[in-house]
Amino acid sequence: MSGLDRRPAASVPSAGVPSAGSPDEQARPLSGILTSDAGRGEPAPPGPLPPAGSHGGDGPALAHALGVDPAEIVDLSQSLNPFAVDPAPIVARHLDQLGRYPDDTAATAALAEAMSVPRDRLLLTNGGAEAIALVAAHLGRGRVDEPDFSLYTRHLGSSDPHGPRWRSNPHNPTGRLAVPEETAAVWDEAFYPLCTGRWTRGDAEGGAFVLGSLTKLLACPGLRIGYVLGPDAEVIDELRRRRPAWSVNGLAAGALPELLDTVDLGGWSNAVADARRRLVAVLADHGLVARPSDANWVLVDVAATVGTAAELRLRLAHHGVAIRDCASFGMPDLARVAVPDEAALARLDRALDQALDPTPDPDQHGPRV
Ligand SMILES: Cc1ncc(COP(=O)(O)O)c(C=O)c1O
Repeated sequence: MSGLDRRPAASVPSAGVPSAGSPDEQARPLSGILTSDAGRGEPAPPGPLPPAGSHGGDGPALAHALGVDPAEIVDLSQSLNPFAVDPAPIVARHLDQLGRYPDDTAATAALAEAMSVPRDRLLLTNGGAEAIALVAAHLGRGRVDEPDFSLYTRHLGSSDPHGPRWRSNPHNPTGRLAVPEETAAVWDEAFYPLCTGRWTRGDAEGGAFVLGSLTKLLACPGLRIGYVLGPDAEVIDELRRRRPAWSVNGLAAGALPELLDTVDLGGWSNAVADARRRLVAVLADHGLVARPSDANWVLVDVAATVGTAAELRLRLAHHGVAIRDCASFGMPDLARVAVPDEAALARLDRALDQALDPTPDPDQHGPRV
């Protein structure tokens, strides 16, 4: 466990939320001590690391097993916008919403204006996940060309080869954008704005459902906010009647207009492309080959270095970095690594140094894993 660095929790880039700390400030070693860093001061015994689940974002579970504060883990298993502003101070200005039933009218209007779409064709949802569940229930069936994001078949029950086609764009997990002539009935554009600098490819104008995740764009997975952009107002009304009451919580609805004021799609997508190039270079320095990607993550072939993504995930976790093992997509040789900001990239670089170092770790009486 000697590779995991101790640092002030506030300066740790966690889950893609930008950090104020420079890479140098973050280079203080933990000196082989594994303790709970949540201010309790009590050593926490490490347990066995949990295997990867069916989606990313397992940094907190790894932290729990390692006995460290989740803020110590750089979570590159979830692909959040690394350049989003910290949502916490904005959300904190809306705590008065906790005493009221949520009303998402103003938030819907603000998103419609930001996206330049009619507000009666837009439905806010409890994350992209609820957008998927609502449209799956509405359509009843769908064709999913695997591998693709697991929530489609979860909510459809199964993939029907004759059903309307579902497609993530960019594709999760490959990170590639659809070619212009590609068609689908449901486009999941959870990551599209970060890839392209545009809100949508425009398929709702041609009759498709377009799903979005503000969770990814605004780096706030705990806030839960997403949307469906429908082909017409009637179908959005049907989805609204299907949606559970108050599913978009008051904090999310209250904070969204201000969060949208921080959006810089062009700047963010350019910054993501630059950061992706830097990530690919760091991976290459460690002998890891990233596949071409348009997205805010890359897939990395690990067969030639450590064999399986599960192995690389375990090794990196011991050095404070979480990545996504793609075994649940049926791709055990591939790891998915989110594009990090500069500070998180420096942490990854150091973690790879340690995780791929064949020399024995004196603290572990064996290789550093
Ligand atoms: C392709 C895709 N769509 C939708 C979602 C759901 O995102 P959320 O419900 O957090 O907005 C995810 C989450 O990982 C995703 O990868």
